[in-house]
Amino acid sequence: MKATARAHPNIALVKYWGKRDEALVLPHQSSLSLTLAPLQVTTTVEFGAASETVEINGHVAKGSERERVTSLLATVRSEAQRTLGPARVVSRGDFPASAGLASSAAAFAALAVAGRAAAGLAPDARRASILARQGSGSACRSVEGGFCEWQRGSAADGSDSFAVQRFGPGHWPGFRMVVAIVSRAEKDVKSRDGMRQTVETSPYYPAWCADAESEIARARAFIAGRDLEGLGALCERNAWRMHASALAADPPLCYLLPETLRLIQQVRELRQKGTPVWFTLDAGPNPVLLTDVAHELSAEALCLAAGATEVVRCGPGSDAALVEDALF
Ligand code: DP6
Repeated sequence: MKATARAHPNIALVKYWGKRDEALVLPHQSSLSLTLAPLQVTTTVEFGAASETVEINGHVAKGSERERVTSLLATVRSEAQRTLGPARVVSRGDFPASAGLASSAAAFAALAVAGRAAAGLAPDARRASILARQGSGSACRSVEGGFCEWQRGSAADGSDSFAVQRFGPGHWPGFRMVVAIVSRAEKDVKSRDGMRQTVETSPYYPAWCADAESEIARARAFIAGRDLEGLGALCERNAWRMHASALAADPPLCYLLPETLRLIQQVRELRQKGTPVWFTLDAGPNPVLLTDVAHELSAEALCLAAGATEVVRCGPGSDAALVEDALF
């Protein structure tokens, strides 16, 4: 009745931006990401507690934060078809939630894996991915390590909308993603609200969906061939196109800060001098650089020189997994 799991976050190379079903968290288009080590979240779930409690990074979760956890556990209970009682959940990340890199993907992947095990359900990556998706869409891509593809699916119940691993972490061990923190400020519009606003009001949204879907096969081919130049260029244009669709929303959504543009400009300049470095950008101001192990220190130096207050160097991470060390 008690289990603990740890999971890594992921960064999308082809982004997810927009839902066709808000309640089930079903996307309009497929996406592709890399699961990132060493950052991780650990979560312990125990059923049969006196009352349902959720503790995240030392504080008691309330409101929608708590609601997303308890509704995921309700799905676990119905799948287990057992009376499990209230759950106690404790979750801890080894990176601050405000670090610019969303911890929610890792947190919901760890919750899904630990919750299923605590309920006595057999390990099943597909079912864990579907479950994690209900907490936060991008979390379905953190159940497995390496390069994972979230297939949008078409079933109304979401049963075919989950992530699958395309290449394990050992496929391209020298691939690096360098996260540059240029701002820790809470963003004005959360991803969930920003993507809804884009879906509902951006005239560019249909073009975004068609383009992102068509990039998936190309991204997969570049990863298969460990083609950093091809993948880097693809990631940059995919990030720009996601932001273009958001900028065209009404009211417009601009996640970029002057510091973001300054850093991106320097990435281009360094690349023109021969260093293989590209960037991607989620719904926030902090760029993530793509490079290889031979150039990660140059990428880090660029970020610091361009004004980043913190830099996190990451490589391919492994599957979400059950661990022995319970948090209570
Ligand atoms: C820009 O997965 O955080 O990072 O499903 O509403 O919880 P919800 O959104 P979330 O959105 C991530 C958006 C993104 C792109 C990506 O990770 O693919």
